[in-house]
Amino acid sequence: MKFCIRVFRITEKDNGYITPYQLCAEGSSLSAGKASGASPRWYPFIGCNSILHKRTVKYGSQWKAISEMAKEYSTNVLGLKMGNERVVVVYGEKNIQQVSNDKVFDARPDNFFLRLRSFGRRCGITFVDGPLWREHKLFTFKYLRNIGYGKELMHEDIKYNLKNILNFINNSNGNPINIKIMVAMSAMNILWKYVAGEHIKDSQLRKIIELLSARSKIFTMAGGWLNQWPFLRFIAPEWSGYAVIKKMNEQIHDIIIESIEKHKKKSVKGKDFIYAFLDEMHKNKATYTEDQLTGTCLDFLIAGAQTIGSSFDFMILAALRNADIQEKMYQEIISVLGDEDYNWPDIKRLVYTTAFVCEVQRYYTIAVFSGARRTLADSILDGYTIPSGTTILVSLGDLHTDPELWDEPTKFEPERFIDANGRLKSSTHSYPFGLGRRRCPGEPLAKPFLLTSLVAILQKYRIESSNGVLPSDEPHIGMLAEPRPFTARFVKRKLSQ
Ligand code: HEM
Repeated sequence: MKFCIRVFRITEKDNGYITPYQLCAEGSSLSAGKASGASPRWYPFIGCNSILHKRTVKYGSQWKAISEMAKEYSTNVLGLKMGNERVVVVYGEKNIQQVSNDKVFDARPDNFFLRLRSFGRRCGITFVDGPLWREHKLFTFKYLRNIGYGKELMHEDIKYNLKNILNFINNSNGNPINIKIMVAMSAMNILWKYVAGEHIKDSQLRKIIELLSARSKIFTMAGGWLNQWPFLRFIAPEWSGYAVIKKMNEQIHDIIIESIEKHKKKSVKGKDFIYAFLDEMHKNKATYTEDQLTGTCLDFLIAGAQTIGSSFDFMILAALRNADIQEKMYQEIISVLGDEDYNWPDIKRLVYTTAFVCEVQRYYTIAVFSGARRTLADSILDGYTIPSGTTILVSLGDLHTDPELWDEPTKFEPERFIDANGRLKSSTHSYPFGLGRRRCPGEPLAKPFLLTSLVAILQKYRIESSNGVLPSDEPHIGMLAEPRPFTARFVKRKLSQ
């Protein structure tokens, strides 16, 4: 009994000692901090997992649990210890801007979960740092733009791929369906055309999207239990989520390797990213390795499908739950475009419908925590000293519902993105794609894809609930947020309707 108390009961002094960084006011020494309300207690080995777990069960998601904890401790810089990892969660626009723009926060954590995600290595773009990250983010997206990514040509691809979604809807004959997987597959096919010059087989793509969604439900942005105690993969591979990631990695690895081999044999036509990368490899450039190529392709497959699929699902949910707003969008679409075919410049004239997409991205923030960061040196944030090597989580979900920034944040209201002159607001406090140098490079595909696809559907169909009951507004929040599964009916409109 005595032993338990000595080991597990942490005194104020102990807490001040093992968690000094969280509580050090600017200028004080790192070891002199004392607990005074910016963090729950940390215990050896488990950190603050038990308190976090209890609250996650209570609030339904780890993100919400942490958010409530930050309110309880009245802090915008919450210090946690997850297993052995020091994690600081950051709130408030000013702090979030500092983390996004200050180079000291530019790195990503290097932990078991992130290495597992990247085939056991540190490669690609999303989870590498420093010169490797800068060089490859620049090379990749500069090349993609050269071959049309984010340009007019890509809008033609979006429209072409939309045919599959519209056919699927048409074939449903107004019966209840869910189009999320179809949408995610379409988005991935567009992206993969630029990356690998070809389509991925539907069955393979469907499997990856399902596994990504399963992974997102098991893990959080902090990596979950498996990250803290990697040995769990041996004793509880299913429960810890290890089996899902392993299966997903195998599927994704097969697709990437098959495609690289085809490129080596020059059996894929046209220009694409893999050819461009192999050209650099042939010039013997140091960082252009096969691992780096595989890692970058993996980033595309992981980043592209689920984000766009879930965002679109939320748009359908919002249209379904807000019939008046859906009708307003339809009226705008018909008055600006009629029921004719349209081009991207026409779509840009749809102010209200674009504001709807912005509001969906705010109200249903899918990346509730932006990509995790790691501090490269000791740094000061909001008066707290944060030591080098700390994992930083930025809560975009809280920023998007901060009552100091938004009027009635819990209300779904596209108008908040329109200014007094009827134009889209040029600056808001909404950052669904993050901000700063680590900002998401997928926006030039995601934004037009979401808008164009929504317009194509609303122009022809009214979205109605399956059985008169509106689906839940409460998302499932894991690594990303996604709607709870629901179906909708797509009822064909006559032009006069
Ligand atoms: C609606 C769709 C999407 C949303 C909401 C979204 C959101 C985000 C967010 C919040 C980040 C983290 C930024 C940070 O750490 O500050 C991110 C990073 C990233 N996203 Fe996206 N994303 C979406 C689609 C895509 C797509 C389609 C791609 C594929 C091109 C993509 C590729 C990436 C990459 C490579 C990064 C890492 C960037 C870096 O570390 O420098 N994303 N995304």
